[in-house]
Amino acid sequence: MAKKVLILPGDNIGPEIVAEAVKVLQRVDQKYKLDIELDYAHLGGAGLDAEGSPCPAQTLAKARQSDAILLGAVGGPQWDDVERHLRPEKGLLTIRSELDLFGNLRPAIMYPQLAHASSLKPEFVSGLDILIVRELVGGIYFGEPRGIRTLEDGQREGYNTYKYNESEIRRIGKMAFEAAMVRNKRLCSVDKSNVLEATVLWREVISDMAADYPEVELRHMYVDNAAMQLVMNPKQFDVVVTGNMFGDILSDTAAMLTGSIGMLPSASLDKNSGGMYEPCHGSAPDIAGQSIANPLATILSVAMMLRYSLNAPEAANAIEQAVSVVLDNGLRTADIQTEGCKLVGTVEMGDAVVAAL
Ligand code: IPM
Ligand code: MG
Repeated sequence: MAKKVLILPGDNIGPEIVAEAVKVLQRVDQKYKLDIELDYAHLGGAGLDAEGSPCPAQTLAKARQSDAILLGAVGGPQWDDVERHLRPEKGLLTIRSELDLFGNLRPAIMYPQLAHASSLKPEFVSGLDILIVRELVGGIYFGEPRGIRTLEDGQREGYNTYKYNESEIRRIGKMAFEAAMVRNKRLCSVDKSNVLEATVLWREVISDMAADYPEVELRHMYVDNAAMQLVMNPKQFDVVVTGNMFGDILSDTAAMLTGSIGMLPSASLDKNSGGMYEPCHGSAPDIAGQSIANPLATILSVAMMLRYSLNAPEAANAIEQAVSVVLDNGLRTADIQTEGCKLVGTVEMGDAVVAAL
């Protein structure tokens, strides 16, 4: 039976990088006879402009019927002035939440070829291989009540709610422990339990779960310390599990360690391993339309999609291998450019990966 993949190009550089990732997907489809059927829909600013909503009903309906979703990126200053509930980011949060994509896997892997592109010295980052497991549909991103209200004295107050219940913590904990089991069996749970009750419970539940995974070495870390440790001695980490907001912040940091956020893919999974795949980076309005964006994070997201949702590990490995070959050949987009390498644009980079396949 054909596997349905829904493509959501999104905004700004989104369509540019997605076009390259689609070329790669089509190449492996042909090579490994995967029988993939593509469909397209709008999300983010593109959804708002075309259909009046950052997450149009039609997009959600198609998403529910697909085996996997590939997303570029959403957002940009074009939509700075729209009402909050119509913002492009709201479209992304809605689709994550509607599909219950609670488990966000963000691997930060140092390609040896890029050790010099990192802001840290090569000895700190060479061989780096971290997996951040971020809870994606709860925590302060979604907690109610939330809003901006006017107080009795006339001034306004913004407020949000940070909460996690036990089952929410348990299901992301399970994903993280299981990920650790097939990696180096070290798990670091990040919280702020010296201040926030929601994360006192988080720490308690994760600690309780450790009994089911005796082989996994579990430790806990406050988020401020984790941020420091990530840039001081990143190789101490194997799998990191944390809530939505801390995961958002720490994954950008981890991304930069590897040389460029333009290299980092992600998977957002539901309980049946259906999922949405997207680069960790944003829509980069500053470089949109110039065909200079790095498409590799999106291409590597296709590899994750093949592995986690489409049961095609061979094709996934082939894509990762092809990316490595292209880097070996010295091709670099501007974000990972170093001396002596060949500077290429978005399309050339995509073509080179297809050729390496
Ligand atoms: C991410 C992004 C999103 C998030 C934004 C665009 C809503 O930063 O995927 O990390 O905060 O989750
Ligand atoms: Mg982010």
